[in-house]
Amino acid sequence: MPIPMLATERLNLLGVTEADAEAYEHHFVDYEVIRHLSAEVPWPFPAGGVQAFIRDQIVPVQGQDRWVWGLHRKSVDGLIGTIDLRRYGERKNRGFWLGRAFWGHGYMTEAVIRVNDFAFDELGFERLIFANAVGNERSRNIKLRTGARLVGLTPGAFVDPGYTRQEIWELTKEQWVAWRQL
Ligand SMILES: CC(C)(COP(=O)(O)OP(=O)(O)OC[C@H]1O[C@@H](n2cnc3c(N)ncnc32)[C@H](O)[C@@H]1OP(=O)(O)O)[C@@H](O)C(=O)NCCC(=O)NCCS
Repeated sequence: MPIPMLATERLNLLGVTEADAEAYEHHFVDYEVIRHLSAEVPWPFPAGGVQAFIRDQIVPVQGQDRWVWGLHRKSVDGLIGTIDLRRYGERKNRGFWLGRAFWGHGYMTEAVIRVNDFAFDELGFERLIFANAVGNERSRNIKLRTGARLVGLTPGAFVDPGYTRQEIWELTKEQWVAWRQL
């Protein structure tokens, strides 16, 4: 089912559809993006794999127990990354990636703030759990910047075999409300 569009100062977050496949593939199929992701993601990434992933794994569950938005700059057409929420993610309720050309501008932090609001205020989450590879400083910094608390270190398998451990983070509704009032 369609999911709501969320707006931030510079971005529109739009539910991912098959129409996004070309831009998604262009920015996503990059070892510097994919190496930080779970080892379940194939590498080398298969040709046509993005279209199939959107068709088979996003569209059928969109708005049910998974919400996957594309990040679109308000000023320019085209998806530049994604952010998603999962109701039943094992050790993980949120994921994100951004095309390398767009790192360093605060776009993902801006999207995270809006999506956290949506998770707690609209979807009724009481707690979100996040994970990232130990060493993925950019992802870790987003959690630090947005009020999450480090709660554990566990073994983890990522596309980059050099990553062997993951940090587990927690953000409760109470923490988020407090962070929002800072
Ligand atoms: C994780 C990822 C999305 C982070 O990208 P990012 O650009 O560092 O994050 P943001 O878009 O929030 O930008 C933050 C950076 O912009 C800077 N910035 C500039 N303007 C800003 C603003 N208005 N607000 C916040 N930050 C701003 C920040 O200082 C920060 O840079 P720094 O880390 O050098 O200090 C990106 O590195 C990525 O896609 N990595 C590969 C996939 C991945 O790791 N996914 C997560 C798996 S757990």
